[in-house]
Amino acid sequence: MRGIAILGSTGSIGRQAIEVISLHPHRFFVTALTAHRNAALLFDQVRLLRPRMAALTGETAPPDIPDDLSFCDFRFGPRALEEVARESEGQDVLAAVVGVAGLKAVLAARQAGKRVLLANKETLVAGGEMVMDACPDGPDGPTLLPVDSEHSAIFQCLQGAGPNAYEKILLTASGGPFRTWDKERMKNATVEQALGHPTWNMGAKITVDSASMFNKALEIIEAKWLFRARPEQIRVVVHPQSIVHSAVQFRDGAVIAQMGVPDMRLPILYAMSYPERLETGVEELDLFSVGQLTFEKPDPDRFPALRMAYEALRLGGAAACVLNAANEEGCYAFLRGEIPFGRISEIVADALDRYGALPARSLQDIDRADALAREAARGLLG
Ligand SMILES: NC(=O)c1ccc[n+]([C@@H]2O[C@H](COP(=O)([O-])OP(=O)(O)OC[C@H]3O[C@@H](n4cnc5c(N)ncnc54)[C@H](OP(=O)(O)O)[C@@H]3O)[C@@H](O)[C@H]2O)c1
Repeated sequence: MRGIAILGSTGSIGRQAIEVISLHPHRFFVTALTAHRNAALLFDQVRLLRPRMAALTGETAPPDIPDDLSFCDFRFGPRALEEVARESEGQDVLAAVVGVAGLKAVLAARQAGKRVLLANKETLVAGGEMVMDACPDGPDGPTLLPVDSEHSAIFQCLQGAGPNAYEKILLTASGGPFRTWDKERMKNATVEQALGHPTWNMGAKITVDSASMFNKALEIIEAKWLFRARPEQIRVVVHPQSIVHSAVQFRDGAVIAQMGVPDMRLPILYAMSYPERLETGVEELDLFSVGQLTFEKPDPDRFPALRMAYEALRLGGAAACVLNAANEEGCYAFLRGEIPFGRISEIVADALDRYGALPARSLQDIDRADALAREAARGLLG
């Protein structure tokens, strides 16, 4: 039995994690759950799964806890995420919160010797070196397992390969809802249009990131850290059907791809059960009904996020943290209707220009770069 704490249990990944855990009650149990503000759903989940700990990280004043949940130790406020990561029982912490808010909790989980199952890509983008230093392989294998579908795919393709065996990572991208739109039309896309992802059903932030391709930008940086890849080894391939979740090209010319219907339950459960494969409830892939798999070159002119990711890798230091923070600000401002869609990438480009050279030697450096980038971004919201 593996005990798992789910940080962000009320979100898209968190809810799917609960689904797959419920399929395997003899393999996994939930030790802790956290939400930001969705108390009603968190209480329902606590009632169902009976974890010993739970937290509402967006609440500083404790709300009324229903009487029947007195068995659970509830925590409140932003520090509660770290407390749960550190103090919960069990071996694993699934980081499924959105944004850089997960960074300190991931580090806390590692300090407590827990294995981290990472969906929360912003954490690795902002604190790459620090997170990787905290996650050396242990006697029982990796202490950091990717949940993001592309990175899980790459990780699966690399199983059994020797060290330094791969030449390139082929990181697939659906292209999002604006894949075929021209630049002018995209500039004023509405929130509803940006939230209409053609193949994946996800939380709002990652869905907008997919439309701007900042999601792929974050994933390029995530791949650099997880697989120790040089920037020129990571190639983005637009694949609108989202059946090939990514591929790896090896030294001998072989290309191994991982395919399946787009469904996050597979990479979530694979991270939990690695190296074993368990029933996920995922629909079978029928290649005959898929018919065609197509691949296109990405267009960095319409999607400047991709260029910015490589620029952030070239700059090193806190550049990726700056890119992430400015994108978070821009993305949420767009979702609140404060800026047009096209403004998001301008805000990130400006923050990178100003603060892309900051260092990232410590958590304080990262906090400072994150704060400066957010301040610069907010200054441009107008
Ligand atoms: N969804 C996907 O298919 C998918 C695929 C690959 C990777 N990911 C990554 O997985 C992470 C989660 O994505 P998602 O789509 O599941 O997001 P989501 O649906 O928006 O859920 C986010 C979760 O985090 C909580 N949360 C929000 N802001 C927080 C904060 N400041 N501090 C602590 N907790 C906070 C939310 O609580 P409330 O419900 O109370 O707001 C919710 O439980 C992201 O990093 C995303 O990039 C997602």
